[in-house]
Amino acid sequence: MILETERLILRGWRDEDASGLFKYAKDDRVGPSAGWLPHKDEKYSKAVIRTVLSGEETYAICLKGTDEPIGSIGLTFRESKERGIPKDGAELGYWLGVPFWGQGIAFEAAKEILRHGFLDLGLKTIYCAYFEGNERSKKLQQKCGFTYHHTNKKTHVIMLGEYRTEHINTISWGDWKKNN
Ligand SMILES: CC(C)(COP(=O)(O)OP(=O)(O)OC[C@H]1O[C@@H](n2cnc3c(N)ncnc32)[C@H](O)[C@@H]1OP(=O)(O)O)[C@@H](O)C(=O)NCCC(=O)NCCS
Repeated sequence: MILETERLILRGWRDEDASGLFKYAKDDRVGPSAGWLPHKDEKYSKAVIRTVLSGEETYAICLKGTDEPIGSIGLTFRESKERGIPKDGAELGYWLGVPFWGQGIAFEAAKEILRHGFLDLGLKTIYCAYFEGNERSKKLQQKCGFTYHHTNKKTHVIMLGEYRTEHINTISWGDWKKNN
């Protein structure tokens, strides 16, 4: 599926995006904030496209008229008892290449994914987490209308081999509808 906003096209990831993905995902200001390692080469980026970014509701964020991914956003549907995400709970995740921070691009993409999730997919609740200290992500979630749900004091961040505190927010269809 392809989604569109004023400035963006959100479309599925493809093998050919490997070099574009590597360009932004090698930056150590991106992945570790979200719990994954900076990419080490294009081969690794290609493997990530095939394994992690291949989900049906995972989208490459492209500026209109370029077709070059500058970030990723999507919904995953994995129950996590340890983290307090229920079986029917969709979770929003996102990141953006550093040169594109501070322009409202992540906000614009997240608003469209929420619309898509609630109106097209008929979801009832969407969850979104951030690690303690990730103020940009916290702010983005607040702007989107997410509210605090619970905190996990010791979430195992497997890829980074460490434990972190994560805060989990939610937004229900009813709350989303009030403001959209
Ligand atoms: C989290 C992340 C996506 C946020 O990106 P961002 O660019 O700061 O987010 P936004 O799209 O909300 O942009 C916010 C800023 O753009 C500015 N802006 C410009 N035009 C705007 C517009 N039309 N609408 C909204 N904000 C706009 C605002 O000033 C705003 O800054 P402020 O909130 O301090 O006022 C980014 O920092 C990132 O990729 N981090 C690393 C990975 C990560 O942490 N992922 C999340 C894991 S939980």
